[in-house]
Amino acid sequence: MRTLITNIKELLQIRDYETVKVSGKEMSILPKIENAFLVIENNLIAAFGSMSDCPKTIHDVEIDAKGKTVLPTWCDSHTHIVYAGNREKEFVDRINGLTYEQIANRGGGILNSAKKLNETTEDNLYLESKKRLDEVIATGTGAIEIKSGYGLTVDGELKMLRVIKKLKENNAITIKSTFLGAHSFPTEFKNNHSGYIDLIINKMLPTIVTEELADFVDVFLETGYFSIEESEKIIIEAKKIGLIPKVHVNQFTAINGISSCVRMNALSVDHLEIVTDDDITALKNSETMPVALPSCSFFIGIPYTPARKIIDSGLPLAIATDYNPGTTPSGNMNFVVSLACIKMKMTPEEAINAATINGAFAMGLSKTHGSITVGKVANLILTKPLNSYYELPYSFGSNLIDSVIINGQIT
Ligand code: NIG
Ligand code: FE
Repeated sequence: MRTLITNIKELLQIRDYETVKVSGKEMSILPKIENAFLVIENNLIAAFGSMSDCPKTIHDVEIDAKGKTVLPTWCDSHTHIVYAGNREKEFVDRINGLTYEQIANRGGGILNSAKKLNETTEDNLYLESKKRLDEVIATGTGAIEIKSGYGLTVDGELKMLRVIKKLKENNAITIKSTFLGAHSFPTEFKNNHSGYIDLIINKMLPTIVTEELADFVDVFLETGYFSIEESEKIIIEAKKIGLIPKVHVNQFTAINGISSCVRMNALSVDHLEIVTDDDITALKNSETMPVALPSCSFFIGIPYTPARKIIDSGLPLAIATDYNPGTTPSGNMNFVVSLACIKMKMTPEEAINAATINGAFAMGLSKTHGSITVGKVANLILTKPLNSYYELPYSFGSNLIDSVIINGQIT
């Protein structure tokens, strides 16, 4: 099937096949064609260019995009959308003065979600999660990473990963699966960390490899959660079965976790609300993508990732939602792009690069997703008529998406 989109006011994020991420000053450039056409053949981008070169042949579907902007769909490289129930009571507790840490210390937080998850059947968990997946696709997400980490038992973690696998099999968008068994220590292992780490290594990892349940491994490397030593132990074993590390680090404290992740060749380091000069030095000369999660900072009132410090030192930066029941009950990448501009002082070009090509890199998808490139998957956002793409971050909270194309099909 061939689809032709004509009269595109601005076709954004045009890249050659070799560009897999953009760093430092390159992030301020967002290559575009004004008054453009784009051809989709089956599920791939087949051609694009200026309207003066638009093919005259008949196409199966023709879409007039007059006044509209077209850009690649968002690449959300960090989510926890498989979970059971909500944590809206904790939200009110925080309004009334408790901190995230205080709530976690009294058995709330991740352990609260783990309790709910272990009481939920795999089928119900799938249905709850599928709703969230459909919701984020409608807001322009075309590739997503989903983590486990709310099971914290052998059965619970495997249940989550099986749900992610089923989501992969039954949905059009590309999904990457991350094993986050090391999200928190369950209460019964509070004083027996090595006991839980043994369970991860000897009981969870072997089934993950035989059932092919994960692409990546994650650890919550943080004061009060997993130390550097504990994290490295898990990551080293996970790497032996082919899982690539993507790590939660520097959310609340800087404990040299980033240099450990770089040593472990992590694909990404995520959160980074607290970043030291040593962390920046560690990231330079590495292939590790820093990932900021601004709607988490917004929701729980913690500092925003210092994007300027990161980009101005020549590093790349990706942005993602962190959609989860505790710190970010939203998977809206449009809002993340707005927050990146408003709160992290990223320009619209930097924010869009961070949410597309760099997001694709942070989940190993930049050869197929994240830009308008011949041969890449035809995952596109068509906006409502806009004055310019600056309106995307500017009109925060408004839905400026007219339609979303996934694998060449209008959703
Ligand atoms: O990315 N920081 C660790 N994990 C999640 C939140 C977990 C939760 O509170 O449920 C995050 O923010
Ligand atoms: Fe997270």
